[in-house]
Amino acid sequence: MNMKILMVCLGNICRSPIAEGILRHKLRAMNLKNVVTDSAGTIAMHTGEAPDLRMQKTALKNGIDISDLRARQFVVKDFDEFDLIFAMDRSNLKNILTLARNENDKKKVKLILNESFPEEDREVPDPYFGGEEGFQHVFELLDETTDQLIKNYFA
Ligand code: 4NP
Repeated sequence: MNMKILMVCLGNICRSPIAEGILRHKLRAMNLKNVVTDSAGTIAMHTGEAPDLRMQKTALKNGIDISDLRARQFVVKDFDEFDLIFAMDRSNLKNILTLARNENDKKKVKLILNESFPEEDREVPDPYFGGEEGFQHVFELLDETTDQLIKNYFA
């Protein structure tokens, strides 16, 4: 199935790159070559940067390499490019929806944890200003929800 999936957070250096990295890893293992993944941030501050070193380290500890990813800002054209746009928290969701041009744009945008906890509107907490354990927690949340995402769309 051809599908393009975009993960979005605030800076595109912690949550959305690991969400992309975990999903990419699982899709490759399933040999699902027609599914494209990418990630973006609602702010431009970290454009061009590799993922936060703490997130890269946590990823590697869990067997996933995200060192090749580079941050970019979400742009309106992403509504044309992608079929599904997953926000990490309600603030990201609101910021993306503000840029939507029509109902078709809006219906592509979802909170990622609603894949595993439907309609609960749970959030992936921002680990940026906290300690190492916050990064592992984010990894575990996204590992679980991407398993469910795959079941929901590719089963
Ligand atoms: P992310 O985390 O949205 O998961 O990439 C953050 C990264 C950078 C900042 C905030 C959150 N920042 O304020 O620079």
